[in-house]
Amino acid sequence: MRWPKGLTGLCYGGDYNPEQWPAEVWPADVELMRRARVNLVTVGVFAWSRLEPQPGRYDFDWLDRVLDLLYDGGIRVALATPTASPPPWFSLRHPDALPVTADGTRLSHGSRDTYCASAPAYRAAARGIAGALADRYRDHPALALWHVHNEYGTTCHCEHVAVAFRAWLRARYGDLDRLAEAWTGSFWSQHYSDWEQIRPPRATRYLGNPGHLLDFRRFVSDELLGAYVEQRDLLRAATPDVPVTTNHVLGGWVPVDHARWAAEVDLVAIDHYPAEAGPGAEEQTALAADLARSWARRGERLRRTARAGQVGATGDIGLAGQGGRGGAVEPAGVDGSGGPAWLLMESAPNLILTPGRMHAKEPGRMIRHSLAHVARGSRGAMFFQWRASRGGAEVFHSALVPHAGPDSRAFREAVSLGRVLDRLAEVDAGTVRAPVAIAWDAASRWALQSTVLPSGQLDYLAEVSAAHRALSRAGHTVDFVAEDDDLLGYALLVLPALYLLPDRYAARIHDYVAAGGHLLVSYFSGIADEHARVRTGGYPGALREVLGVRVEEFHPLDPATRLPLSDGTTGRLWAETVRLTGATPSVSYAGGLLDGEPALTRHDHGDGVAWYLSTRLDVDAYRDLLARVAEAAGAAPTCPTAPAGVEAVRRGTAERSWLFLLNHSAEAQTVPVCGVDLLTGDYADPVRLPAGGCAVLRETADADPGRRSDA
Ligand code: GLA
Repeated sequence: MRWPKGLTGLCYGGDYNPEQWPAEVWPADVELMRRARVNLVTVGVFAWSRLEPQPGRYDFDWLDRVLDLLYDGGIRVALATPTASPPPWFSLRHPDALPVTADGTRLSHGSRDTYCASAPAYRAAARGIAGALADRYRDHPALALWHVHNEYGTTCHCEHVAVAFRAWLRARYGDLDRLAEAWTGSFWSQHYSDWEQIRPPRATRYLGNPGHLLDFRRFVSDELLGAYVEQRDLLRAATPDVPVTTNHVLGGWVPVDHARWAAEVDLVAIDHYPAEAGPGAEEQTALAADLARSWARRGERLRRTARAGQVGATGDIGLAGQGGRGGAVEPAGVDGSGGPAWLLMESAPNLILTPGRMHAKEPGRMIRHSLAHVARGSRGAMFFQWRASRGGAEVFHSALVPHAGPDSRAFREAVSLGRVLDRLAEVDAGTVRAPVAIAWDAASRWALQSTVLPSGQLDYLAEVSAAHRALSRAGHTVDFVAEDDDLLGYALLVLPALYLLPDRYAARIHDYVAAGGHLLVSYFSGIADEHARVRTGGYPGALREVLGVRVEEFHPLDPATRLPLSDGTTGRLWAETVRLTGATPSVSYAGGLLDGEPALTRHDHGDGVAWYLSTRLDVDAYRDLLARVAEAAGAAPTCPTAPAGVEAVRRGTAERSWLFLLNHSAEAQTVPVCGVDLLTGDYADPVRLPAGGCAVLRETADADPGRRSDA
């Protein structure tokens, strides 16, 4: 079975909201979709009030017609359950299912995402509409994928949540003494003597308890996952051969541990809207796609392990099978095609909703961004939305069919993308292998959002992005790993601001280095245990031994401060007093309070090497450092001859490979590699890319191996 079911080639399409349009528009939509070669659309994602206009009274006639029309037009459907936007009748009937903010305000309907996932009435209504859709459409031939909900992410602080939170805490800690220990209850008189005293973290007079806040984020992720699983299971029971997923949003406010959810979706789906308009957009795109692919790999491995009977549900598992160095073990896709399945479920064809001012994508950028996702393993490119709305809250959000209609640059580009994706169908067989990995940890991200840390400038995503950017600019494709992922497959592992480090994760990192792995740790990693309690005796507690250093003091810096370093680069944001306990200094602070003290250290540990970086380097210096460290670790860039500004990513099988070359620069570029460019059908040697241009080379063994970029 291919996922989504019944689709061949790459997926192309987006959210289709026919309920916003008179029925006469629908056949025209299908005709335009055919013209653009759209093959998959998400339908019904915000249609609850149209599907169930009154409690228990369903109106499916319009959806029947839409699905028939789409199927007749050769278009498959990701059928959504509309549970992200309950209808007004529901909220009026069940005010207790409206979410409550941390300051105690109960929100009203009138927007979307206005639900409490712990409210029994909401859960029952969600099961009701999902079950009704499953009954009605289980045999519809257009049904290719179930798209549960939309961007799970509502956090609520009501009494229903309090009940569920207590149950979650009881399961985690068993008794109140253990809870008090985890939350450091003795600080500010926070010993609970009865479970009933525990609340979701509501607004407080002064700083809240970091342990309480952190566990609440973990709880909300699990609670939302429970709501998803409930729907997934009833959909699976009705249609065992139709995959089920939900689309993830990636913002810092999102209370979802995506890596943990990955085992519960059949296909990891992300929505991606880069916040930056400049070149940062390409870097954000690469980061999001690398995360999605890594979550998909992890999910696939966890499911395999569970099937093999080694573990139970999502979460705690033992050590995974370890692969050979130089590329993580890539489980084959569940459907026998390329790597573990993930899909760019939403992106913006043009204008992106950003506060204050929307930014437009230049011609060609939409296709280039789509290819950047496909290069990294996405099973296609999907958009929000098909046809621009003529009213409503997102009236000026871009669409494949803009307000101007099909006679427009935007729609012509949509047609071009359809042609491009058609030509790339064969790459779906290929997987992406990365020799380097960065740790990603949702809990560390949440913990770093705390207001009690030494610097308000420390931002987890910024630290991870800086490492990812540096490695990308050094020409590497990057995987992300979580605590229980296979580490030994990577030549280099980078831990940026991995603040929380449980003992067993620290032990795995030690083993990784001892076995020959190369490790680079940046400041504010390994500081605390999983309860955000600092490990005493010198920072970074959990990593002192492997790094051969002991940090006595932090020196958070004023944003304007630049600390000169002995190699001519500068440090900023953060500095530390680092004592050597086995490591050798590589670069030192030059001048000021820390004059002569180590800034970057190296420690040979077992068969491997562990680097410690105690300050934030500027972009180029970080790139140069990681390029050197990766080279010493034996990790080769994807295409060493690609000039700056050209992104190179490879997908491959045992027999052949495809090299994506994306010119993000404003100049024409030449890359001295050769192969058949799938976009033109021509053999290229070398590859000449216009400004903003792309090529996808089929690199076959007979295509002059001497010129292959990886030869
Ligand atoms: C999200 C949602 C869509 C739409 C877009 C707009 O990704 O899922 O419904 O609101 O954002 O960017």
